[in-house]
Amino acid sequence: MVQKDSQEKKFSTRVISEKFTKEDVHGAISMPIYRNAAFEFADSKSIEAAFQYKEEIASHTYTRITNPSVENLERKIKAASGAENVMMVASGMAAISNTFLTLTYAGGNIVASPHIFGNTFSLFQFTLAAFGVEVRFVNTDNLEEIASAIDENTCAFFCELITNPHLEIANLPEISKILKARNVPMIVDTTIIPWCGFDARKAGVDIEVVSTTKYISNGATSIGGAILDYGTFNWDHNKRLADVAQTDAMSRFSFKLKREIARNIGAAMDPETAFLQSLGMESLQLRFEKMSETAYQLAQFLSDNKDVVKVGYTKLESSSYKHISDKLITGNPGAMLTFSLKSKEDCYTFMDQLQIIRRATNLFDNKTLIIHPESTIYGTFSPELKEIMGIENNLMRLSVGLEDISDLQADILQALEKLN
Ligand SMILES: Cc1ncc(COP(=O)(O)O)c(C=O)c1O
Repeated sequence: MVQKDSQEKKFSTRVISEKFTKEDVHGAISMPIYRNAAFEFADSKSIEAAFQYKEEIASHTYTRITNPSVENLERKIKAASGAENVMMVASGMAAISNTFLTLTYAGGNIVASPHIFGNTFSLFQFTLAAFGVEVRFVNTDNLEEIASAIDENTCAFFCELITNPHLEIANLPEISKILKARNVPMIVDTTIIPWCGFDARKAGVDIEVVSTTKYISNGATSIGGAILDYGTFNWDHNKRLADVAQTDAMSRFSFKLKREIARNIGAAMDPETAFLQSLGMESLQLRFEKMSETAYQLAQFLSDNKDVVKVGYTKLESSSYKHISDKLITGNPGAMLTFSLKSKEDCYTFMDQLQIIRRATNLFDNKTLIIHPESTIYGTFSPELKEIMGIENNLMRLSVGLEDISDLQADILQALEKLN
């Protein structure tokens, strides 16, 4: 039988059939957990070659730098996404912070949507600002505003697809045209829609960051993050990267990230996490499709209820992002939806009555989770910053899990009835 080229194979087949770099001595069918810190070499010349990257197949030297179990997960994500380079780190926030520490410099700026995850906002607004990096918040629906915020010190454009919890979708292909003309890389956090639902490269994304704590972790088993480099950006114009080596195997960005920044920051992924998340990658498409279908049906169900003021889900006709959602996302647009009641008090009454749906932060667990973002994730921000971030106090976020939809509907209905 003729072997199909890897890119011709379908998503789950590519992920499941991805090979190890070296055969396992015992023939293990899943990559074992290499729970060790250091690796031994036969002689001094071999360890020198490993440290100087002179080997044909790179060996592992120390788990903070690379590890076979972590590398296996990186290869599965490469197979899933088509990225040129993938680096796993300890959390989604480690993916975002390592990325911006690689790209930015004092006097540099980031053009970003303010509608982003709370810690990312805080990283830009407080942490990076202390090192002289400016963040310029723009309305990503306004292409002119994006264009005029860019100058010769713009290190990157950043947004989320889909924004959490606002459920907005930036027109990435159009934004990409502006960025390409001005030599600015597009960096997108795609935690909400994994690779089986969104083709980042096609949309113009240069660097993708993902919290693998969510869909990939296989039911909230572990914390992790991924940085994907599509090899699509010419880094000559970035002042931080212009003098970094460009190799055949790696862009300047990945070279600096892997050889300097990630090692110095030290937020390496744990090998046990890599094992759990490699299994998560294998069932990702199945879980994503099931959760997203339930989310779509629940969004319709909530829209029909008189006590619900507003429902957010980008496939609904009521969403002003439906058109771009249908264009960029394959199938249903994920397992996160939002809905608003008349007041914050109503939200609390409703949430306190739930019996199947859990009151917890996190997204894309196997269990359905609900949270009131304004009082929790965004609870420590000032009212002025909450306004910039677009956080309303009568909105709840639902992350839909794998329970049967009829049980979720019954739980929601009995809790809504308590409002009257
Ligand atoms: C969109 C988005 N990006 C990044 C993160 C941070 O991920 P982690 O908790 O793995 O650091 C989250 C966490 O909820 C998120 O929702």
